[in-house]
Amino acid sequence: MYRTHDCGQLRIADVDKTVTLSGWVQRVRNLGGMTFVDLRDRYGITQLVFNMETNAELCERARKLGREFVIQAIGTVTERTSKNKDLPTGDIEITVNQLNILNKSDVPPFTIEDNTDGGEDLLMKYRYLDIRRKPIISGLLMRHKMSLEVRKYLDAQGFMEVETPVLINSSPEGARDYVVPSRLHHGEFYALPQSPQQYKQLLMVAGVDKYYQIAKCFRDEDLRADRQPEFTQIDCEMSFVEQEDILQIFEGLAKHLFKEVKGIDMNYQFPRMVWQDAMEQYGSDKPDIRFGMKIHDVTAEVKGHGFKVFDDAEYVCAIAVGGCANYSRKQTDELTEWVKRPQVGAKGLVFIKYNEDGTVKSSVDKFYTPEQLTEIAKKAGAGTGDLVLILCGKKMPILNAMGTLRIEMGNRLGLRDKNIFAPLWVIDFPLFEWDDETQRFYAMHHPFTSPKKEDIALLDTDPGKVRANAYDLVINGTEVGGGSIRIHDSQLQVKMFNLLGFTQERAQSNFGCLINAFKFGAPPHGGLAFGLDRWVAIMYGCDSIKDVIAFPKNNAARDIMMGAPSLIAPEQLDELSLAITPEK
Ligand code: AMO
Repeated sequence: MYRTHDCGQLRIADVDKTVTLSGWVQRVRNLGGMTFVDLRDRYGITQLVFNMETNAELCERARKLGREFVIQAIGTVTERTSKNKDLPTGDIEITVNQLNILNKSDVPPFTIEDNTDGGEDLLMKYRYLDIRRKPIISGLLMRHKMSLEVRKYLDAQGFMEVETPVLINSSPEGARDYVVPSRLHHGEFYALPQSPQQYKQLLMVAGVDKYYQIAKCFRDEDLRADRQPEFTQIDCEMSFVEQEDILQIFEGLAKHLFKEVKGIDMNYQFPRMVWQDAMEQYGSDKPDIRFGMKIHDVTAEVKGHGFKVFDDAEYVCAIAVGGCANYSRKQTDELTEWVKRPQVGAKGLVFIKYNEDGTVKSSVDKFYTPEQLTEIAKKAGAGTGDLVLILCGKKMPILNAMGTLRIEMGNRLGLRDKNIFAPLWVIDFPLFEWDDETQRFYAMHHPFTSPKKEDIALLDTDPGKVRANAYDLVINGTEVGGGSIRIHDSQLQVKMFNLLGFTQERAQSNFGCLINAFKFGAPPHGGLAFGLDRWVAIMYGCDSIKDVIAFPKNNAARDIMMGAPSLIAPEQLDELSLAITPEK
C-alpha cells in the first residue's frame, strides 16, 4: 500500500497514529540536527521530520532528497512544537522511521510553489509541473466542481446531455473556422464547430426538448485574456419556451453555481438592462455594474460656445470620477495620452476639476464660464471633489472609447473587487449590425435569431432598428453567456437570409439542412451557451482563462508543450492531395 492518508489529511486528532504518505518533495530544510521535508500531493502539504540523533542514517538520506523526488514515508504523527497556522496540517508533523524513494526527478525548471519564479513560456512548456502548483490545481478543481454542478442542476431540470460531432461542415458568419482536410474526399474539408448551434436546433426538431452539452468549440480568432482558440461551452437549448422561460431557468443555474461553488446566496432577481442603455450609460454591451461612473450625454451643454472640437462633434459624453479633482497636470496629461492609444481610439481628452470648494478648473476654461463648466460637471453626475472626463466623436465609437476609459478608471481606483459578483442580463440586442466597409448587414448574434414580434414590420422598412430576442449574461463586465429565441418559421428564416445578403443557393449550401428540417414541424425553441472557461475564471478570481484550462494555447495559438501546430510529413500531405505554397 503506497499510502494510508493523503498529504492534506492529518490533524492533531491523529497524533500517535502510524501512517504512510506518498508524494513529491517540495522542500528540504536542515536545521541543526533536524531535517524537515515538505511532502506535497494534490491534497496538501505535510511536514516530515528526520532526527540526526535518533536515526542518523535515515536523516542523511533525507538530506540528499532532491526537489520533486517521489517518495514514500512511514512514521508516526507527532504534535509540532512550532505550529504553522497557514497550513491545514500545520499542527502536526510525521516523525519518519522508513523512507523509500519511488522515483528521482531532474531539477525542475522553476520552483513548484504558490509563487513561482518561472516565466509564462516556461510554465506553459512544463505545464504538467505548473499544474502541481496549488493555484493551478485548485482552479482545475473548481472547474471540475462547476461542471459537476452544471450537470446536477440541468439534470434535475429535465435536460439531457447529447454529444454532437466535431467534424462538421464549414459555414460562414461568426469567426474563422478551423478546417480539417478529408483524405477520402479529394479537395474537401471538414470544419471544427465554432459552437454546436445548428445541431442543437436540429435536436429540437428531433423532439429532444431540453438539451445540454459541455462542448468543445473552436474559433480561429485573435486571442485575448478571455479568448482561446479552443474553449468549452455549457451549450443549452429548449423547446416551447419564450425569452422569459430561458432567463428564469438559467438565472437559476447561475444562482445554483454561486451557491454550490462559492457559497454565495444570490436571493434577488438579476438586474436586466436593454442593450441601448448599456451602450449609452456604460459604453459597452457588457457593463461592469460593480461601480457607477455612468456615462452622460453632454452634447447639448457643450455645443455653441466657440470650442470647435465640440461644435463639430456628433456626440460628446462625460464621466465623473469620484474624488479625483486633485489630479495633477502630470496625471491629466498621462490620461490624455492614454485615451489616444489605438485600443481606446479617442482623439483627445477634456477635463473639468470640480474642486472641493465648489470652484472649477478645466482644460477648456477659455471657452466656458465657471457657471457653464459647473453645469456640464453636474450633467456628468459630478459632485464637488470629482474629476469630469469628456470625450467627443462619432456616437458609437466614442461611447466605446468612454466605456474603455470608465473601466480603466474603475481599475485605477480599485472599484473592481474580485470578491464581489455583479450579474446582469443584457437584453434587446439589435438584430443586425451594419458594416460600412462591406455595405451590408451582419447578424449581431447569428442568422437564426428571431426578431421581436413587435419589430417584424421594421424588417422591410428599417432593418437596423429591429431588436432581437437575444440576451447575454454578464458578470463583472465579462460576457459569460449569450443566446436567443430562434426563428422556427422557414419563411421568416428565408427573409433573414435575404436581408443578410445570402442568395438562395448560398443559404441552401450553408444552412440547407436546417432550412429543410424546419419544414417538418420545428417547435418554437431557444437557448443559450455559457463560456465555461470564462465563468470559472471569474469565480476563481483570475485574469486570464488560461489559468483555468489544463493545457491552454499561448497568445500565438501555440501549444508550446506538445509543439502544435507542426509541420506534417510529405506523405501525409500527398495522401490529402495538399501542397504548401510559400508564405506570402
Ligand atoms: P457565443 O458566440 O456568444 O454564442 O458564445 C457563447 C459564449 O462562449 C464564450 N466564448 C468564448 N470563450 C472563450 N474563448 C472564446 N474564443 C470564446 N468565444 C465565445 C463566451 C460566450 O458568451 N451558439 C451561440 C449560443 C446560442 O445562441 O445558444 C454561441 O456560440 O462566454
